[in-house]
Amino acid sequence: MNYRQLGNSGLFVYPLALGTMQFGWTADEQTGFDIMDAYIEAGGNLIDTADVYSRWAPGNPGGVSEEIIGRWLKTRKNRDTVLVATKVRGPMGHMGSEGRQTKHQREGLSRKWIMRACEDSLKRLQVDYIDLYQVHWLDPIIPIEETLSALTDLVRKGYVRYIGCSNFSAWRLMQALWASDKHGFERFVSIQPEYSIASPVREQFEREIARVCETYGVGVIPYSPLSGGFLTGKYQRDADLPDSERAKGIADSRFSEKNWAILDNLREVADNHQAHVAQVSLAWLLSKPYMTAPIVGANSVEQLKQLLPAADLVLDAHELEALNEVSDWPRTRTEREN
Ligand SMILES: NC(=O)c1ccc[n+]([C@@H]2O[C@H](COP(=O)([O-])OP(=O)(O)OC[C@H]3O[C@@H](n4cnc5c(N)ncnc54)[C@H](OP(=O)(O)O)[C@@H]3O)[C@@H](O)[C@H]2O)c1
Repeated sequence: MNYRQLGNSGLFVYPLALGTMQFGWTADEQTGFDIMDAYIEAGGNLIDTADVYSRWAPGNPGGVSEEIIGRWLKTRKNRDTVLVATKVRGPMGHMGSEGRQTKHQREGLSRKWIMRACEDSLKRLQVDYIDLYQVHWLDPIIPIEETLSALTDLVRKGYVRYIGCSNFSAWRLMQALWASDKHGFERFVSIQPEYSIASPVREQFEREIARVCETYGVGVIPYSPLSGGFLTGKYQRDADLPDSERAKGIADSRFSEKNWAILDNLREVADNHQAHVAQVSLAWLLSKPYMTAPIVGANSVEQLKQLLPAADLVLDAHELEALNEVSDWPRTRTEREN
């Protein structure tokens, strides 16, 4: 298995990262342990979480996914063989439950909150350091220099090895890279965008962000690479929705003639390889020159095992051309030439 360099960093990662947003939400702790065991056994080494996971589960103030990972890491002999990625930015705790604290002391990308949030994540994860600490999304109130300066201090203290961002637009990513160059701050080594062959924001990513990443050596670890489950093939035209917590949201955001045509095409390619539709969706992502490792979510070991062969699946030029043709977005002449 060829591990891939994460941008220009010294981290080498398995071509599929493991997402854990579902831990404590649609997957309980034991299932989470089993999924992580199966992932590591298959050669996987990058586990992605966030401080806020999963606040949308009833009664969860955030932090549960990190806590589950922390307890699982304690069952392992060597923590160093697992790369732990987490995130900061989202609101933590039950708002208003801590007396006079204001919203902006409990979330965001200020120096004050980043320092506190990192300490909290280290405790929940029960580790001395985080391999990749990511800014979950932009904080428009705080200058990027303050954020990068705080993140740089975390690296200097040894709490964090590398820093990355998520959900940044191309110009914000460039702004951050410039600020790092200018002030000698640590540099974002990766970005975590939403991206798949059927993503509603695919065009936004490919139009500008992907080109920044390729040019400046920023690793790409996209989330929702299966479009939240749509690209597994279990959603079908004119059929009842599958039994999934996410089904209604997927139906609202993904059901379109274009996406059904993409699925039909993925099925044909899957048949050529006697593979699963989801594996072909991931192999399409892995064919991109700027791609490091899609972050897959799985609610069971069975789901995960169906995805893992994608790491070795190579699509030929004709298959990629057909998939691109059915899924592509219109480009202007300037875009084609630049
Ligand atoms: N940075 C961000 O803002 C952000 C946002 C979202 C996610 N993330 C990260 O990215 C990770 C992945 O995101 P995601 O969960 O949206 O990814 P995804 O891989 O597109 O969707 C995962 C979902 O697809 C379904 N699925 C997966 N394998 C399947 C299989 N073999 N057969 C049938 N269904 C299957 C499961 O849902 P059901 O079983 O419920 O149908 C699963 O929860 C998260 O865990 C998190 O770490 C980051």
